[in-house]
Amino acid sequence: MTLTQTNLIPPHVKRIFLTGGAGFIGSHVLDLLADTGVGITVYDNLSNGRLEYINRHLSKQNIRFLKGDILDRELLVEEIKNHELVWHLAANTDIINSHDYPARDLEDGIVGTFNILDAMRRSGVRDMIFASSGAVYGNLAAEEPVTEAIGPILPVSTYGAGKAASEALISSFCHVYGLRAWIYRFGNVIGARMTHGVIFDFLARLKKDPSRLVVHGDGRQEKNYFLVEECLDGMLYGFRQVPMTEDQPCDVFNLGTSTITRVVDIARTVLDEMGLISSPIVIEGTKKAWPGDQPRVHFRVDKFAVLGWTSRLDSDQSVRIAVRRMLNKPGSEAWVL
Ligand SMILES: NC(=O)c1ccc[n+]([C@@H]2O[C@H](COP(=O)([O-])OP(=O)(O)OC[C@H]3O[C@@H](n4cnc5c(N)ncnc54)[C@H](O)[C@@H]3O)[C@@H](O)[C@H]2O)c1
Repeated sequence: MTLTQTNLIPPHVKRIFLTGGAGFIGSHVLDLLADTGVGITVYDNLSNGRLEYINRHLSKQNIRFLKGDILDRELLVEEIKNHELVWHLAANTDIINSHDYPARDLEDGIVGTFNILDAMRRSGVRDMIFASSGAVYGNLAAEEPVTEAIGPILPVSTYGAGKAASEALISSFCHVYGLRAWIYRFGNVIGARMTHGVIFDFLARLKKDPSRLVVHGDGRQEKNYFLVEECLDGMLYGFRQVPMTEDQPCDVFNLGTSTITRVVDIARTVLDEMGLISSPIVIEGTKKAWPGDQPRVHFRVDKFAVLGWTSRLDSDQSVRIAVRRMLNKPGSEAWVL
């Protein structure tokens, strides 16, 4: 398929303000859209993003990189104007270390989202795509798959609290100031260039000590995993196809696959792809690998399926492809949507 703006983004969107655009998911947004001609301002403080992920796009006329912080409200007001869409991905994603620095989720999560909404309101930018997370569900999603309608929403990590509070702020700004928002609660997004997560950790551990693979927790962890290009495809599908109205100016969608992968199966896949299948898997620890951990996350994706979008691959297939990509194995490159 030829990449054109109209396949992917509605024609009224000429410029996108992409927060967190130098990170794992954000850099894939550039891979997908940089050649369509749509203007993209990448706004990132490089706390976790890397310029090497996006360097090849930065000489293109339609792409602009701005090193900036979402805590800098005045810079946001100055820079966000003249965009038709804010794609808000910037957040603290170091969930484990949130335990020692909970203020990061308050700042990069809640205050940062408030600043962006305020800048949108003040500069007349109306539309937002927001990256939320299954982390908002806390223990509700531990056994039975949950829908977007379940509550009360009581997260078990400050990261999840940051996402839940951001969702609430976004909803209120939509209703009070006429903004529109598409909020997506992701499953685990995986692919090349991951900087955290279970696949990243297993690969790092095995590179250090290939003789065994230690799995932290009780080994019962299971979550839904899906590829980063599917995540982008889903977000853009909703933005194009699901209209927001005056009565309902924002909505929330679980985004992922309806399937899950057990942590021991991820461990086996990583060992297999590294040619280490005889190395034993050693399960060490307790049910929660760290405070705030959600070892089991199950959610339903029916709401988005009814609207016409489902992932192409299941969770196990996605895990194998992501492991191969992290190992730079041939035949696992991203497909063109
Ligand atoms: N990867 C997943 O599995 C997953 C799952 C659920 C939700 N999400 C959400 O998707 C978004 C993108 O995640 P990712 O996996 O690409 O993570 P990432 O850490 O690679 O990307 C986040 C980017 O935000 C930037 N950033 C952080 N704080 C900032 C600040 N104060 N100002 C400006 N930039 C800042 C970082 O430098 C980084 O480039 C995040 O909001 C994350 O919470 C990701």
